[in-house]
Amino acid sequence: MTDRYAVIGNPIEHSKSPQIHAAFAAQTGQHMAYGRILGKDFEQDVHDFIAAGGKGLNVTVPFKERAWRLVDERSARARLAGAVNTLILLPDGRLRGDNTDGIGLVRDLRDNHGFALEARRILVLGAGGAARGVLRPLLDARPAQLLIANRAAPKALELAERFKAMGPVSGCGLDALAGRQFDLVINATAAGLEGEVPLVPGDCLVPGGWTYDMMYGDQLTAFCRWAEAHGASQALDGLGMLVEQAAESFFLWRDVHPDSQAVIRLLR
Ligand code: ATR
Repeated sequence: MTDRYAVIGNPIEHSKSPQIHAAFAAQTGQHMAYGRILGKDFEQDVHDFIAAGGKGLNVTVPFKERAWRLVDERSARARLAGAVNTLILLPDGRLRGDNTDGIGLVRDLRDNHGFALEARRILVLGAGGAARGVLRPLLDARPAQLLIANRAAPKALELAERFKAMGPVSGCGLDALAGRQFDLVINATAAGLEGEVPLVPGDCLVPGGWTYDMMYGDQLTAFCRWAEAHGASQALDGLGMLVEQAAESFFLWRDVHPDSQAVIRLLR
């Protein structure tokens, strides 16, 4: 029987995950089907999918924290992220939760675009689930400094406190960024959902610095437009991260590494 997987979220109709995993499966000769589920009653939906023979799920907005609570065991990176984007059915019937978002971001930046994170000054905008999921892999890459800046400053301070044993991380409010400069600015806020850009000083990016918007769209995102207007030499969107996190999920399920770059080219 063909192994079945799916992505669950709400909304879900625009998800590119089915297309990405179909491409990975074709590349690697894996017999699997990958669908999409509009999540309503999340825990029940997951239960039903597994009961019907499903082998694994990707979890997207707004269910990643609920997935974290639902699973029977968690990988170390999922524990730290406080969110789960990959569910794996174990041979004994228990559900394991993992989080491949952070490794997806780092692989896209480092391997696909050749950005060396080591010794760089990195600014992460936002202190919600999306930010939390990428802090550990960013710190593992040994930046000189990682500053988390959030509209609500206490959330940034709290997050920095939680990760401080892992590297040079600190937190502040967006309003405390004046006069500070970074080599890489990562947008992990949800501002783009409303077509907005977080209010950051235009000169917080060093001349020729890079930006990364964890969002993506068919059009240039609002943050990418902001970055280009403020001298970024590279304004990347989150499509590469999407494909890379999918590639890591695929590896967890199938024990095969797909060619992610070929799929990024296909989607562009
Ligand atoms: P996610 O899981 O996508 O991170 P979240 O946990 O709800 O979602 O967090 C949303 C993040 O986007 C928060 O950091 C939020 O800032 P606040 O904590 O100050 O609310 C940030 N955010 C949302 N809209 C924003 C905007 N228009 N400008 C700046 N930050 C914004």
